Amino acid sequence: MILLGIETSCDETAAGVVRDWQVLSNVLRTQAAHATFGGVVPEIASREHLRLLPGIVAQALGEAGVGLGDLDGIAFTRGPGLAGPLLVGASFARALALESGAPLWGVNHLEGHLAAVKLSQPDLEPPFLCLTVSGGHTEITMIDSDGSFRGLGATRDDAAGEAFDKTGKILGLGYPAGPELSRLAREGDPAAFAFPRGLRRDGSFDFSFSGLKSAVAREVERLGPETAQGRLQDLCASVQEAIVGILVEKTLEAAESERVSVVAVCGGVSANGRLREKLRQAGEGRGLEVLFPEVSLCTDNGTMIAGAALWRLETGRTGEMGWQVDPRLELGTA
Ligand code: KG4
Ligand code: ZN
Repeated sequence: MILLGIETSCDETAAGVVRDWQVLSNVLRTQAAHATFGGVVPEIASREHLRLLPGIVAQALGEAGVGLGDLDGIAFTRGPGLAGPLLVGASFARALALESGAPLWGVNHLEGHLAAVKLSQPDLEPPFLCLTVSGGHTEITMIDSDGSFRGLGATRDDAAGEAFDKTGKILGLGYPAGPELSRLAREGDPAAFAFPRGLRRDGSFDFSFSGLKSAVAREVERLGPETAQGRLQDLCASVQEAIVGILVEKTLEAAESERVSVVAVCGGVSANGRLREKLRQAGEGRGLEVLFPEVSLCTDNGTMIAGAALWRLETGRTGEMGWQVDPRLELGTA
């Protein structure tokens, strides 16, 4: 089955093609137009998607070596995400479906992140535990044997990616700060500063990262700008350790409580090297298999959207793949 996936929920204009669980192409453009604003401007994102989509889709089809007529279906992100950008992707996908005659499916972006793990490890099958860590979401979900989703915990304030981005901003890094912060962290001492780990040992699988943000701001103020700059790598390493540490702790607790032997980690933050290393190490000692997507599939992309549609089609769960966009769609509702 050959599927095209289109992703426009935020500031990545992306398209990709899969043949069953094989990636045929993965093309994306991170919109540069937002850089001077320190965050994503929804109206600019919509216009950029409109401008970039035709070229990105043509390139994704070209690299895959398929034409519109070869497609068995077209999938697009119907939520969660920014309303305008989602509508641009939905309309574009609909036009392509009309032109090609291929069926059209609306897909949950978070299921897309999860499908990225299966695209990298096709023998992944439920039951397993999933840690979703992106710029907008931080969730621990149980995927039961029948493929249904059961939420175990979520962030009560900032998402893990947001924690990287907001603390990075305090430290003077550009947006999104996650990748740069983790690069700088490699040269720093993770034990240099003891930053808080929210909701530690509270018995829940929930997270809270807002306290970390305030603690970093206070530390930078206490050090003064010059010293803070001089100790940037130590600050980054310690921030990363606080975020990764609590993610690992809670994920292991949830895996133990659900008695699973497989954990899948997905979303933009799953590209983080320290998270990969710590969770894999901890898993080894407990007989837990920890699976990540290939790094090229961790952050937003269109290939994972095609994968999410494929997973639903294979398991016959096609009921929730409507065309209506829903900016607040949650994992498990679609
Ligand atoms: O999944 P994603 O591409 O978009 C959303 O759906 O939100 O995730 C983007 C988030 C950003 O917050 C970014 O800073 C973070 O993922 N991120 C990272 C790394 N790469 C991306 N955070 C930490 N370390 C990384 N290597
Ligand atoms: Zn995402």
